[in-house]
Amino acid sequence: MKAVVYRGPRSVAVEEVPDPRVQAPTDALIRITTTNICGSDLHMYEGRTNVEEGKVLGHENTGIVEEVGPGVDRIRVGDRVSVPFNIACGTCRNCQTGWTSFCLRANPTEGMDGAAYGYANMGPYDGGQAEYLRVPWADVNLLRLPEGTEHENDFTMLSDVFPTGWHGVELSGFQVGDRVAVFGGGPVGLMAAHSAVIRGASQVFLVDEEPDRLRLAESIGATAVDFSAGDPVQQLLEATGGRGVDRGVEAVGYQAHDPSGEEHPELVLDNLVQAVRATGGIGVVGVYNPSDPGASTDLAKEGRIPFQYGQFFTKGQSMGTGQAPVKRYNRQLRDLIVAGRARPSFIVSHELPLDQAPEGYARFDAREDGWTKVLLHPAA
Ligand SMILES: NC(=O)c1ccc[n+]([C@@H]2O[C@H](COP(=O)([O-])OP(=O)(O)OC[C@H]3O[C@@H](n4cnc5c(N)ncnc54)[C@H](O)[C@@H]3O)[C@@H](O)[C@H]2O)c1
Ligand SMILES: [Zn+2]
Ligand SMILES: [Zn+2]
Repeated sequence: MKAVVYRGPRSVAVEEVPDPRVQAPTDALIRITTTNICGSDLHMYEGRTNVEEGKVLGHENTGIVEEVGPGVDRIRVGDRVSVPFNIACGTCRNCQTGWTSFCLRANPTEGMDGAAYGYANMGPYDGGQAEYLRVPWADVNLLRLPEGTEHENDFTMLSDVFPTGWHGVELSGFQVGDRVAVFGGGPVGLMAAHSAVIRGASQVFLVDEEPDRLRLAESIGATAVDFSAGDPVQQLLEATGGRGVDRGVEAVGYQAHDPSGEEHPELVLDNLVQAVRATGGIGVVGVYNPSDPGASTDLAKEGRIPFQYGQFFTKGQSMGTGQAPVKRYNRQLRDLIVAGRARPSFIVSHELPLDQAPEGYARFDAREDGWTKVLLHPAA
């Protein structure tokens, strides 16, 4: 089959690779209808991880079940399914308490709980930017979708960015009526803003510098804050009568930069501590790593991010972090889509055949104007 393969920094190729097979009785094979390029894929693409050359990428997968192992009894051949990016066994302590993003069994990598498709350090699993994907523990992991092709571009956000944005809001301790500031207007931040609006925030701010992303935020009723036009903390304080927002969501990650493009991994964490009111909450879904050899400072190379912890403590704020447990939310978010209450496809900018993945990566990575979210359709 054809698949998108990592070939080294800023290089991916569409190559012929062996077809995946059912290896365990609980596996399923999925024929991919839609698979997205994610901001997380860019960490690998930019050479900021230790992902091995030859890895098939892709953790945001939707498709049709092609084959199931003899131990699969809930999912059937022909089912239309969303595949959460987390690979979960369903029976370990973390899976059973709803933390499928920290499954204790799926990832053999020393010191890492939680597994994913096509990702550095997340286990030996190939990704789904390909014609077919092998899904372990299929009964546990797969979410059934209504048959047909309706809402395909909405449902494709269920594998990662919509639940992840929702989780960022959840981790912030959000309550109805809160004012929320989302930092980062990529797909994850835009989904966090969409989630906060749906959940009844009184006002949602979205901080970024990319005009197209800020426009999208305004299209769903958020207030755009351009950090290249002035200190975003001052802008947020002015907009809230000096009080600060109740909740903040971090949807940028360790490659946060200033308007000149220079990286400061602590920048957005500092901004959040300053812009969120005392006793408010911060949800961090942007990724930070235990080590980052390509970082701009020696501390950050060791994963030490010296943010304003003193002020964070003094303000009595709380912070939640980590990979999103997609399964905890994806059923309800699917039903919001079906009911017409959520429309996460508003972020889709490009739909490409698999062959054009290298161009999709390059232009999304450059944050080229209008390249907000790229979907690949392998069957196209
Ligand atoms: N926790 C999870 O489960 C999970 C899942 C998916 C993605 N992620 C992570 O979420 C982050 C965002 O993903 P994405 O797909 O939206 O990526 P993206 O790279 O498209 O978006 C990041 C955005 O942050 C903006 N930005 C940079 N510096 C900023 C600053 N100082 N202030 C405000 N905005 C700034 C950029 O302009 C960009 O638009 C990444 O770190 C990704 O790895 C986490
Ligand atoms: Zn993703
Ligand atoms: Zn588990």
